[in-house]
Amino acid sequence: MPTTTRILPIDPHRPDPSALEEAARVLKRGGLVAFATETVYGLGADATDPGAVARIFEAKGRPSFNPLIVHVGDTTMARACVEAWPDRARVLADAFWPGPLTLVLRRSTCIPDVVTAGRDTVGVRIPGPAVARRLIERAGRPIAAPSANRSNGISPTLARHVLEDLDGRIDLVLDSGPTTVGLESTVVDLTSADPTILRPGPVTPSEIERAMGVRVVSSGGPGTDPGGPRTSPGQLAIHYAPRTRALRVEDAGALEGFSWPRRSALVVVGGHDLADPPALIRRFDLETPEEAARDLYRVLHECDALSVEVVVVVLPPDNPEWLAVRDRLGRATLPAR
Ligand code: TXA
Ligand code: MG
Repeated sequence: MPTTTRILPIDPHRPDPSALEEAARVLKRGGLVAFATETVYGLGADATDPGAVARIFEAKGRPSFNPLIVHVGDTTMARACVEAWPDRARVLADAFWPGPLTLVLRRSTCIPDVVTAGRDTVGVRIPGPAVARRLIERAGRPIAAPSANRSNGISPTLARHVLEDLDGRIDLVLDSGPTTVGLESTVVDLTSADPTILRPGPVTPSEIERAMGVRVVSSGGPGTDPGGPRTSPGQLAIHYAPRTRALRVEDAGALEGFSWPRRSALVVVGGHDLADPPALIRRFDLETPEEAARDLYRVLHECDALSVEVVVVVLPPDNPEWLAVRDRLGRATLPAR
């Protein structure tokens, strides 16, 4: 696998066609290209080429039971990836695409087993950024892309994060700067009687309910048995985790009597009244759900770089607007005590 990873800077607003062409060429010959979506950087390969897709699993060290999301440039390409395009899919695509919503539908024959981990369903979405969509258009085929990190690590929101994990394991990184949304897409399964949220994300359950006019159910909370038919196999209890020991508490009061080590970092999410503990190396305050989504992974990457003994995260309130951020923090940390 060792290869030289090239980095091509690209303007997110006016992407240089020759850089896109070059990246599309790498994809068409079975290579791996990391590129920014609005959520996190994805590690892309030609979804119709089993050998190329296998390289994604190898580069990430990803278990083969975990299926990949297929990124498409428009709904015509989405429909080619699936067996049927039910009314519900049309409604959600009209409402949220391009955007951070993945639809799980029955797959068509153009999607090989390695993409779906042998399942008869496939996750598809149209990403928002111009770089991502034009890259897919130029490649002229659907692009399978998980987050561009080593399996179980923190998802990348900067090209630098991709290189920290995958330098020398992939062909190219298109560096278009920080991602804007910062948390992975909402994954909704449309193959069951009730639409089911397999992974909470930037598009909330109530937004989906409003668009569809039907109730949606949720599955796949932290600790859910992976691999079951109604869960997202990627939703492992420990995931998205920093290397540093990371502990969570529900509120500032729970830190009374906490024995702080000599070097610690504090991440306060959702606005808590809390004085700095002794010998704190660094504190991060993430006030709103949007700010927390956008900056959480960058903050966790920074905590790892500080070489502290512990990262303590004070959680935001347990209410719907914080659902996705709490989900990721629940997997990135262990309860204190
Ligand atoms: O925002 C995102 O979704 C990013 C960007 C790059 O698009 N991608 C991403 O991919 O987060 P990944 O592979 O890290 O997570 C994909 C999630 C996993 O939890 C996986 O199990 C689930 O989607 N998934 C994919 N296909 C599925 C399917 N057919 N059925 C159930 N879950 C599926
Ligand atoms: Mg991932």
